[in-house]
Amino acid sequence: MRGHFGRLALVTGGGSGIGKAVCQALTREGAKVIVADKNYEAAKLTASELGPESLALEVDVSSDQSVYKCLNDAIKNYKRSPQIVVNSAGIIRDAYLLKMTETEFDDVYKINLKGTFLITQHFAKSMVEHKISGTIINISSIVAKLNTVGQCNYAASKAGVASLTQVAAKEFGKFNIRVNAILPGYIETPMTENLPEDVKKIVKERCAMKRFGRPEEVADVVAFLASEKSSYINGALIDVSGCLS
Ligand SMILES: NC(=O)c1ccc[n+]([C@@H]2O[C@H](COP(=O)([O-])OP(=O)(O)OC[C@H]3O[C@@H](n4cnc5c(N)ncnc54)[C@H](O)[C@@H]3O)[C@@H](O)[C@H]2O)c1
Repeated sequence: MRGHFGRLALVTGGGSGIGKAVCQALTREGAKVIVADKNYEAAKLTASELGPESLALEVDVSSDQSVYKCLNDAIKNYKRSPQIVVNSAGIIRDAYLLKMTETEFDDVYKINLKGTFLITQHFAKSMVEHKISGTIINISSIVAKLNTVGQCNYAASKAGVASLTQVAAKEFGKFNIRVNAILPGYIETPMTENLPEDVKKIVKERCAMKRFGRPEEVADVVAFLASEKSSYINGALIDVSGCLS
């Protein structure tokens, strides 16, 4: 299936993990992919692996100015606005609520929730101005539902991403811009590789499939949501967790 032939995509957090797998899946299906990441070296590496039609951009999704520059650089390079936008940039700063610092709370909120807001706002505005239909896919987390101990900042930020997704879907439907979110379970990426072994064991026990997911298993769902095969799916929150409870 080459369902994205010639379409332009921008993936935040494309330098690593799920975002990188999304870049690879969209490229495989024929899209030109802009890899946007705060870690510019990682973004360049992903882009070089994707091929000459790909571009790496440095962006800090928590900064309005940086996101605005990222949009302008994308348009300058490709002479058009991306019609597929994937919000995968994200961080964790786990701590029990009574011990969590203000910085740990703010950093997670700024990148995971405000970052998703800023990218969505700037890129959707550009789609509307250029009168193009589009699709935005946000990477929330199953933690938004499970509300895991030690993750009050992360859980609340990802629940916020889920709410923002559904509000945006209602507001943008009339512009033919669809907005959906994926709620991954535990996926094998740099974000989870340093989890303590006992935590990994508990996660696997609680997962019906008794294993972590692979980044490609999330990326394939993103590629589907970005394609015309999902043309009437809007405002959906899709668990990709192997049934984790
Ligand atoms: N790995 C999991 O188990 C899992 C589960 C559920 C949800 N998620 C979510 O999926 C997304 C991707 O996670 P991952 O596992 O691939 O993590 P990762 O750490 O492998 O990749 C995250 C990427 O985001 C980039 N990034 C961080 N801050 C940024 C900023 N301010 N601006 C731009 N880029 C920034 C990093 O440089 C990195 O390349 C995140 O939103 C994460 O919360 C991950």
